[in-house]
Amino acid sequence: MINEKLPKIWYGGDYNPEQWDAEVMNEDLRMFKIAGIDVATVNVFSWALSQPNEDTYDFTWLDDIIDRLHANGTYVCLATSTGAHPAWMARKYPDILRVDFEGRKRKFGSRHNSCPNSPTYRKYSERIAERLAERYKNHPALLIWHISNEYGGYCYCDQCAEGFRNWLQARYTTLDHLNKVWNTRFWGHTFYDWAEIVPPNALSEERIEDRSTFQGISLDYRRFMSDSLLDCYKLEYNAIKKHTPELPITTNLMGLYKELDYFKWAKYLDVISWDNYPSFNTPVSLTAMTHDLMRGLKGGQPFMLMEQTPSQQNWQPYNSLKRPGVMKLWSYQAVAHGADTILFFQLRRSVGACEKYHGAVIEHVGHEHTRVFRECAELGSELQSISDKLLDTRINARVGIVYDWENRWAVELSSGPTVALKYVDEVHKYYDALFQQNIQADLISTEDELSNYDIVIAPVMYMVKKGYAQRIEDYVQAGGTFLTTFFSGIVNENDIVTLGGYPGELRNVLGIWAEEIDALFADQHNQIVLNEPFGALKGEYQCGLLCDLIHAEGAEVKAVYAHEFYQGMPVLTVNKFGSGQAWYVASSPEPAFLQGLLANLCKDKGITSPIPPVPGVEVSTRTTKDNHSFLFILNHNDHPTSIELGSFKGTDLISGQPVEVTATLPPKAVMILEK
Ligand code: GLA
Ligand code: ZN
Repeated sequence: MINEKLPKIWYGGDYNPEQWDAEVMNEDLRMFKIAGIDVATVNVFSWALSQPNEDTYDFTWLDDIIDRLHANGTYVCLATSTGAHPAWMARKYPDILRVDFEGRKRKFGSRHNSCPNSPTYRKYSERIAERLAERYKNHPALLIWHISNEYGGYCYCDQCAEGFRNWLQARYTTLDHLNKVWNTRFWGHTFYDWAEIVPPNALSEERIEDRSTFQGISLDYRRFMSDSLLDCYKLEYNAIKKHTPELPITTNLMGLYKELDYFKWAKYLDVISWDNYPSFNTPVSLTAMTHDLMRGLKGGQPFMLMEQTPSQQNWQPYNSLKRPGVMKLWSYQAVAHGADTILFFQLRRSVGACEKYHGAVIEHVGHEHTRVFRECAELGSELQSISDKLLDTRINARVGIVYDWENRWAVELSSGPTVALKYVDEVHKYYDALFQQNIQADLISTEDELSNYDIVIAPVMYMVKKGYAQRIEDYVQAGGTFLTTFFSGIVNENDIVTLGGYPGELRNVLGIWAEEIDALFADQHNQIVLNEPFGALKGEYQCGLLCDLIHAEGAEVKAVYAHEFYQGMPVLTVNKFGSGQAWYVASSPEPAFLQGLLANLCKDKGITSPIPPVPGVEVSTRTTKDNHSFLFILNHNDHPTSIELGSFKGTDLISGQPVEVTATLPPKAVMILEK
């Protein structure tokens, strides 16, 4: 449980009453009661308000807000406010300002704007976090700490350059070593002095973001920036822990956000929290996958949904309203995947600046008689009655999908073989193929234990880290089913090719050799032809993007290419290795193929769906420690949908009604069946 003070699914969100006249808060507190809101996240962007100058701190305004919330029975998620520095600080100490990708020194403005290697930022952010901890450590309303906000963005200033050089020295010790691992003899890059190394950006190695002329330095800069921001987080974390060792600390992550290695960050978060902003047309399974990734960051521990909008956003090109029922449906989707909180950005709409058209529980009209408020209040009341049962329950997946930030950076920094290869898309294809069959998966890091899973899927495992190939071999040897795809096993942690034939270190376990890799244009395809019908698979399927030209070296060939000069070469292989199997999918296939293939693999391991899949209906199970389970059924369709339950019987937690044989759900409706 995140904090036993509030043993239910927390409900509430970001709240900035300092932006309004004091009386407005009385109305808000009244409405929080109506909506069942019990948590307010405060002080997210108020650094300038609390610290008017170098030596003065004034938290009286915050005392007042926290006390009033407490008197109302509302708990507090207390932010440290360091996501945007004060204007006076930027003027007095310009080292706090970032230098952007184009090499321009920023002026004061916007937010998430501090250089992570700025001595000023580090000193004052740590200091205000400590002041807050000293002041509020015994406040009964305090549930959890929220450090800064959505860490992200890179800086390319001189102090970051200096920090980078130190980071490199610690990692590589000598310049000789660095020259070797970066392969600097290419294009005459040999370094003779650490001071010659400059950050890779538009002024040096990276003309367009994410394409680099030198992957080694670009990869390391990403690691360094992720670490630099993490160091800032840790300074605040440690300052707070001294005063409140028992209170959990988090920072709100951003799901699939590319620039930070969240698996590394997760070690320093007591609980994972994240901000979920799908768009109108985001695939439901992509949101599901992102929740699973966030759950996976801490080995399946329940996470916090820290932000979502009750109705619309302001920062997308087109900010559609969440249709009736959708806010509730997506909230339960988060819970279905392991969230133990449902929090919004924000509780009341801003009056000015860029977020005034961002949705909120309380709209500009200021009263509770709105569609959005009614829907929020309905969910609030449901959570009050059902959520203690769901709290702290887990998801027991038998399929693990490997997700790796460093690999993603390397894949997408790569110059060739195609610009169209997007790591997340390929991971998502495999996730979706399971999702469509109601098979749950965990997203796991390359450090996670493989033997927890019957099947491990590692899409586009381009970078194979030291020791990982051996761990895969051991896993398969012991009976595991491993699957990887085209463009795997190519490089090491420094993006240096493993010589001796692709897929490098994975060649042994896969029993294949990939001789060449063809890149297809967007409208170009090949066909996968099965040698013989294979379980759910028969006939031909489309594939594209990349086609590895492989030779079987002990692996059994299950399917071949239909076209091109590599017609007849293998596209799907399986290698029996020890007591297990290692599969290779040499191209990017259409969904029907992946669904059939994964159905076969799951069947082989006795992994089944709890109820038969129905298009547009998502299913997920959360289970208590003593094996008591709750089946979530989420109807994402715009039409009523009937679901055959087979032998599954249960009572719907939300309506209290027994359900058996067939469940019929109205559009966007949710059932949580207690077995
Ligand atoms: C992010 C931020 C919030 C707010 C929302 C708006 O998640 O953390 O402060 O700006 O976006 O969607
Ligand atoms: Zn900097």
